[in-house]
Amino acid sequence: MEYRYCERTNFEDFSSGRVFYHGAGITNFPVRLVQEIFCRCLSYIGNRGEVCLYDPCCGGGYLLTVLGFLNPELISMIIGSDINKSAFEIAAKNLGLLFAEGIDARIGELRELHNKYNKSSHLEALESANRFAYIIQRRSLKTKVRTFQADILADNALKNLEFKADIVITDVPYGNLVSWEGQDNMIGALLRNIRPVLKRDSIVAVCSTKRQKINVASYLRLEKQGVGKRKFEILRIAEN
Ligand SMILES: C[S@@+](CC[C@H](N)C(=O)[O-])C[C@H]1O[C@@H](n2cnc3c(N)ncnc32)[C@H](O)[C@@H]1O
Repeated sequence: MEYRYCERTNFEDFSSGRVFYHGAGITNFPVRLVQEIFCRCLSYIGNRGEVCLYDPCCGGGYLLTVLGFLNPELISMIIGSDINKSAFEIAAKNLGLLFAEGIDARIGELRELHNKYNKSSHLEALESANRFAYIIQRRSLKTKVRTFQADILADNALKNLEFKADIVITDVPYGNLVSWEGQDNMIGALLRNIRPVLKRDSIVAVCSTKRQKINVASYLRLEKQGVGKRKFEILRIAEN
């Protein structure tokens, strides 16, 4: 795949379990790829700032936290939901790292681990955490975050929620570490059930395995791209 927006660089600060919290069964996502997908989505809404970003299968919030660190000036609201309570609790901790309080607490934990075990991995994690702390110091703290539990395959999952997402990016379950908890034609159900939180011009990126079909008449496909074993599709609501 040709990367149009995100250059190859060293993303090891973002390695899961280093500074970001990790839990059993929690997946992560290639950093360069998710930033590329985000920038492509952004290009369809005219690169405006103040973006509200939502992931309805947020797991441990890896993808959202990465995007929060890489795009502090553009994203004003980050929202994640997941069916699995322990996953979205980790997401809340990871998203907390975007703020001084969260990263300072993490630096404290890593210092303690390093003092106790004297491992180079803890020292490297501390260095990464200090780089994150530096990013946080320099940016104006305007991003808000929110996490909640929701079964996105349930018809009323997002009814009566007051937010509207400009961009939805989600990496749906694909069966190895995490499976869909629910019914058939899951991506179709997800796309239907996120409608209450979309605006007319919202952009939705769905990442999945190549085998998972996305075929929903009420959405228009803007892009479809295979990347290794994965693919992503970028969609918007079809005009009536
Ligand atoms: C591939 S993981 C997503 C990882 C996430 N993007 C991250 O960055 O950490 C898929 C997630 O979908 C969640 N999931 C499975 N069935 C679901 C459902 N019916 N509603 C909402 N989330 C669901 C799983 O709990 C899992 O956390």
